[in-house]
Amino acid sequence: MGNDGIDSILREHRLFPPSPAFSDIARVPSASRLDALYSHAAADYEGFWAALARSELNWTKPFSKILDSTKAPHFRWFYDGRLNVSYNCLDRHLEKRADKPAIIFEGEKGDTRTLSYGELHREVCRFANALKAQGVALGDRVVIYMPMVPEAVVAMQACARIGAIHSVVFGGFSAEALKDRIEDAGAKVVITADGGQRGGKIIGLKVACDKALKSGGKSVTTVIVLKRTGQHIAMKSGRDIWWSEAVADHADSCDAVAADAEHPLFILYTSGSTGKPKGIQHSSAGYLLGTIVTTQWVFDIRDSDVFWCTADVGWITGHSYVAYGPLANGATIVMYEGAPTVPDAGRFWSVCERHKVTIFYTAPTAIRALMKFGDSWPGKYDLSSIRLLGTVGEPINPEAWMWYHRTIGRERCPIVDTWWQTETGAIMIAPVPGVVPTKPGSCTRPLPGIAADVVNEQGNTITKPDQGGYLVVKRPWPSMLRTIWGDDDRYVETYWKRFGKRYYLAGDSARRDADGYFWIMGRIDDVLNVAGHRLGTMEVESALVAHPMVAEAAVVGRPDDVKGEAIFAFVVLRGERPPGGVDDKITGELRNWVTDQIGAIAKPSDIRYVDNLPKTRSGKIMRRLLRSLARGEQITQDTSTLENEAILAQLQGKA
Ligand code: WT7
Repeated sequence: MGNDGIDSILREHRLFPPSPAFSDIARVPSASRLDALYSHAAADYEGFWAALARSELNWTKPFSKILDSTKAPHFRWFYDGRLNVSYNCLDRHLEKRADKPAIIFEGEKGDTRTLSYGELHREVCRFANALKAQGVALGDRVVIYMPMVPEAVVAMQACARIGAIHSVVFGGFSAEALKDRIEDAGAKVVITADGGQRGGKIIGLKVACDKALKSGGKSVTTVIVLKRTGQHIAMKSGRDIWWSEAVADHADSCDAVAADAEHPLFILYTSGSTGKPKGIQHSSAGYLLGTIVTTQWVFDIRDSDVFWCTADVGWITGHSYVAYGPLANGATIVMYEGAPTVPDAGRFWSVCERHKVTIFYTAPTAIRALMKFGDSWPGKYDLSSIRLLGTVGEPINPEAWMWYHRTIGRERCPIVDTWWQTETGAIMIAPVPGVVPTKPGSCTRPLPGIAADVVNEQGNTITKPDQGGYLVVKRPWPSMLRTIWGDDDRYVETYWKRFGKRYYLAGDSARRDADGYFWIMGRIDDVLNVAGHRLGTMEVESALVAHPMVAEAAVVGRPDDVKGEAIFAFVVLRGERPPGGVDDKITGELRNWVTDQIGAIAKPSDIRYVDNLPKTRSGKIMRRLLRSLARGEQITQDTSTLENEAILAQLQGKA
């Protein structure tokens, strides 16, 4: 099982306990309080979660049933209860926090806007009424393809308010990827913008949307378009309507529909090792509960905090820790539309200073990228408001961790390294920062009520320290995915089959050290992690072979300083390989082609042309060999089973 992590074991005996100044006022201030949570969960697992569901959520109809396992692994939580997610995020704060900022927004060009809870509530209500006027009802699917502006959250919350199921598609995905998701979800409405501002350029969202709907997406009857960038776009009459027109004349109050606890709140597509992206389906009550309690335990949220999670709403992190968890806790969030380096590499720190950010949550890839620009950028800004730092999306290397700790946290702030997935809905393994000492590179221990474990091939717990195994979760938890949209079999197959339907298979390998700390070692499947985002190698391969010049393609990851992993493609072109090597123009064209098919995140960093892919005699692509080749490593694998050993030199880029 790959990498044994010896390197980190040797170096990482550093332990960073929280300062008393932090612990004294933390929500979970002491080991005894944390132990009490663990003991409660251990003694009465369902009762533990039920107590939280009662104290943290407002129910229209209280639940009396907790967990239904009769159709395992299709679990249901709190399933005879009813509530509304948007009510829990907005209405319940109005009495005390109507004037409190809910969203502090900053555009890439520097425009800012603050929406109080009262204002956000009114905007959500108006937009919910607009959706209803467009015929959207409980259970209908709405695709949201928007820039990182407050209206993206308004749209999500408005769907939640009327029980429509949203599916946010990251604005960096291409028209083709958008079309696939619209079709898989069977969306009735698409909410988009003329464009978004990113990296000094306009991302043409509406243009992509038009392209997607031209070639497919027949279920869509209405496209609602927010004016953001102001450039000219086409509006198709009878289908397209401006946001401002859609909300005009609608009341700023709208009843929150009481939905079943298990009513799907959203679908979010993510990559797997095979086939098309999977529509991960989340519930209402259990999902919201997970985001609420983790925002409390891990981010130690309190009323005075200004919480900035830099993730786009197109990813699960932007759902759980932008649109839902912090708002359900009545917190103030920051949303920033643009790139971290516009106008310069100090932008993030400037936002932190100006908006007095207290909790900052980002991805290791962003930390590494900004670290490269040097200490002078953060040095220019007053970061004293920050009290807690977080990371998510991939393992953080100790060097980046130490830089984050020293240069951003100024050695005062705990760092919460949070392991979770699109599928888990909420953070699963992370330090409770007032109590658990941290180690650079470890996400520490599972949270209370989360039965994460490391097991061997047979499914038995690995008790020996530092031995790698499969990361699994042994009991259902409230914020878990419920299924893959429209494909129950694939849900069972992907996550449950490996260990006889008893354990949830995360798809990561991990090990536990002598202190019981978890260290994530990487994926066990053909899923890449490029800049904290998941991509299936097969998705990129399918995109490549869809090009008329490509006969075959195999894609692997290779380590990258900033992105974590970069995409390396081995390509067999149709016809003879040109004797003088393949023209750079073709490489450029293939890279752009993949960008068109999926999005810029999937663009291969390297393409190497070969006459054949290395296959075993049974026809399987030798991926391990390709991975070594992409890393430029010495070949130690047995290549005697190769169909054609002569291609080795080509694969090494030598012929
Ligand atoms: C995969 C999930 C959940 C938010 C963002 C990514 C990797 C996630 C960590 C971490 C090491 C991590 C895993 C996981 N991952 N967080 N703290 N340390 N690896 O969500 O796109 O669903 O990807 O990201 O490999 O399986 P996602």
